[in-house]
Amino acid sequence: MTTNPDVMDKVVSLCKRRGFIFQSSEIYGGLNGAWDYGPLGAELKRNVKNAWWQSVVHYRDDMVGLDCSILMHPKTWEASGHVANFVDQLVECKKCNKRLRPDHIEKGKCPGCGNNTFSDPRAFNLMLKTFLGAMEDSSSVTYLRPETAQGIFVNFPNVVDSTHRKLPFGVAQIGKSFRNEITPGNFTFRTREFEQMEIEYFCRPEMAEEKYREWIDARFSWYVDLGIRKENLRLREHAKDELAHYAAGCSDVEYLFPFGWSELEGIANRGAYDLTQHATHSGKDLQYQDPITNEKFYPHVIEPSGGCDRGTLAFLVDAYHEEQVKDTTRVVMKFHPKIAPIKVAVLPLLKKNDGIVALAKNIKRELQKDIVCVYDDTAAIGKLYRRQDEVGTFFCVTVDVQSLEDQQVTVRHRDTMIQERVSVDRLHQYIKDHLS
Ligand code: GAP
Repeated sequence: MTTNPDVMDKVVSLCKRRGFIFQSSEIYGGLNGAWDYGPLGAELKRNVKNAWWQSVVHYRDDMVGLDCSILMHPKTWEASGHVANFVDQLVECKKCNKRLRPDHIEKGKCPGCGNNTFSDPRAFNLMLKTFLGAMEDSSSVTYLRPETAQGIFVNFPNVVDSTHRKLPFGVAQIGKSFRNEITPGNFTFRTREFEQMEIEYFCRPEMAEEKYREWIDARFSWYVDLGIRKENLRLREHAKDELAHYAAGCSDVEYLFPFGWSELEGIANRGAYDLTQHATHSGKDLQYQDPITNEKFYPHVIEPSGGCDRGTLAFLVDAYHEEQVKDTTRVVMKFHPKIAPIKVAVLPLLKKNDGIVALAKNIKRELQKDIVCVYDDTAAIGKLYRRQDEVGTFFCVTVDVQSLEDQQVTVRHRDTMIQERVSVDRLHQYIKDHLS
């Protein structure tokens, strides 16, 4: 395994400096396990979510979307098994009382004080509890959802009734989830508030294995198609003794982060566990009825479940490049065009020349109708290019004195730094062609 922790520090620093990701509540010293996406990070994360939604909902005939509430009936979490089983082991350092997950302790030493004696492990439930309504007693306890999946399961009959879908079909959802992680860390990799992108794919039991394999391929390819280097991705199939008792299989898509291979997404073959559990706990018949044969049964479920923040972090780390240009180092974020937060920067070469400024502003107004652009005149051109490289802007369009005469602008390509003259009336189409 080749890992480079320095890269992580560089990415974290770039994220703060250029407005991708900030510490939550920084002015109060920060909040452990929570992060804010800055102006560029918000665009980047939105692009990741849009690319996912497009790929798993809009580009398929067998998928629909859902957007469920974060707060759900507390019985949901009894039925799903989260109240009883969604636990991590926790130990306490006997010297500084820091609470840790035993599997996160390196070399047997407390990361807080270096002590090596700990309390016996005990189970700690990861769900974040809250009270609903004016009474703060046991009758009003509920939880912030620890996964978006359960909203899909409890809506299974609603989706079937309202869309008349026939098996096999799937339901996709993107949304916030919350887990009271004992040791959040590695930047946005393990946090207490995060966004998931989850699919529950319902099929006849005899099709489950085939659909499980199809989804593993589809989800692995999604990361590759959006530019993540294949050598930094791998599939890890869980051993039989790692699986939940009801699961027939689970495979993780892992990324080689600077801190080592870690899970981006899990694809699980969950059998009929969730629907049968909710049927038992709610007393409702959640079986599927075949419209032709009238046969009733519980569909089996394939669940590709990814983290939007982890995905975004992988796109950031993978995009980070340093290149030697003459005697300086060029930092360039080589985002796939679909993921890049800004596609075009329009740069007037002389900010005091009214003609140049007017033409540059007109160009930006025209492009921004369907392409994300910025206008920047706050530094000399070399510096502006470097700034745009550092945030992964795909093209820089420079307007100069010559442009006023020949109605052509200079288009600079981010990855190759090649510059071309393109006529203003062809520019919009030229950029769209290259981005797609
Ligand atoms: N419904 C199945 C489920 O939630 P999971 O493996 O616990 O499965 C799915 O979570 C994905 O959610 C993970 O692969 C990861 O990308 C993301 N995720 C889970 N816990 C996270 C955390 N504490 N911080 C950031 N992302 C997390």
